[in-house]
Amino acid sequence: MRAVVHDTYGPPEVLRLDEVERPTPADDEVLVRVHATTVNRTDCGWRSASPFFVRYFTGVRRPKQRILGMELSGEVVETGVAVSEFAVGDHVFGVKGFGANAEFTRIRQSSPIAHKPAALSFEEAAAVCDGVCLALSCLKGADLREGRTLLVYGASGSIGTAAVQLAKHFGAHVTAVCNTKNVELVRSLGADEVVDYEHEDFTKNGETYDVIFDAVGKHSFRRCRHSLAPGGRFIETDLGFMWHAPLLALLTKIGGGKKLTLGVGRYRKDDVLLLKRLIEAGEYRAVIDRTYPLEDVVEATRYVETGQKTGNVVLTLGVNGRESPGDGA
Ligand SMILES: NC(=O)c1ccc[n+]([C@@H]2O[C@H](COP(=O)([O-])OP(=O)(O)OC[C@H]3O[C@@H](n4cnc5c(N)ncnc54)[C@H](OP(=O)(O)O)[C@@H]3O)[C@@H](O)[C@H]2O)c1
Repeated sequence: MRAVVHDTYGPPEVLRLDEVERPTPADDEVLVRVHATTVNRTDCGWRSASPFFVRYFTGVRRPKQRILGMELSGEVVETGVAVSEFAVGDHVFGVKGFGANAEFTRIRQSSPIAHKPAALSFEEAAAVCDGVCLALSCLKGADLREGRTLLVYGASGSIGTAAVQLAKHFGAHVTAVCNTKNVELVRSLGADEVVDYEHEDFTKNGETYDVIFDAVGKHSFRRCRHSLAPGGRFIETDLGFMWHAPLLALLTKIGGGKKLTLGVGRYRKDDVLLLKRLIEAGEYRAVIDRTYPLEDVVEATRYVETGQKTGNVVLTLGVNGRESPGDGA
């Protein structure tokens, strides 16, 4: 089968399309013919081994996982003997650690994978799980019920667009911060207020929020603390300048003051099932910036690494388009 492989760590150019052996599913796994997958920021971190300690997971000298790709949508073509949840022909979507940037990938039925909502194209279905799982992990404990206020900084990214839509689902009042070109998009995702960071600095407008979520790792607790309500929480997606975020998270845990929390991404099947329900209820939609054929993975990756994509970047391998209701699942 065709797959995107890399044999050394480095820039996007270390990626290349190659013929590799088609995987065989284990007893509790399904084999999926991938129709669409994505390039996201985590793939880029694995490929460039940045920060350096990711080599602990991916191989010290060279990548043990040659095929990157976390998100997928496609069709089940084979099932292991212990698989009961999926059958051959089912259309699925989900997220895994590695191996989705390929024509076929195997995945455990207990992994964050579910039947694809029929109204979603394969491209759209490939572009929703990572942002949602990360946003839900980061916002866990933020108590986003009605009456609570959340500011999402970097609301136009993969995690940011998910956070805005999820927080609206939970009932919070959402202020989204993005640049001028994305104001209408984030408004259409449900944001109650939008701050265009090119024209206004939210830290100087006198407003305060119960939660500030830095969904793009570009702000800081220090600069935001006066915009937090008493007892408020600043949630960080990145380690911060000189990796200060974990230490500050520990320090602010003590006492009843404003807190910094470092979001740690977790991928849970329940979160993908929640996402499926939200999509089917019309409460969640995919945000896709660009779509490339698998062959153009290097170009797609270069674009993701600009840090300026809006939502998600998709790679396609085959059939796309929506199904008739009831098909596939
Ligand atoms: N904690 C975890 O487990 C975990 C896991 C994966 C990723 N991450 C981190 O999460 C962060 C977000 O990932 P992502 O995939 O959502 O990012 P992304 O999609 O690449 O974010 C890009 C978006 O952020 C906006 N942006 C860039 N610079 C900005 C700034 N200074 N102010 C406001 N908006 C800005 C961009 O719009 P404009 O530039 O046009 O404004 C663009 O729309 C990354 O830093 C990544 O390293 C954390």
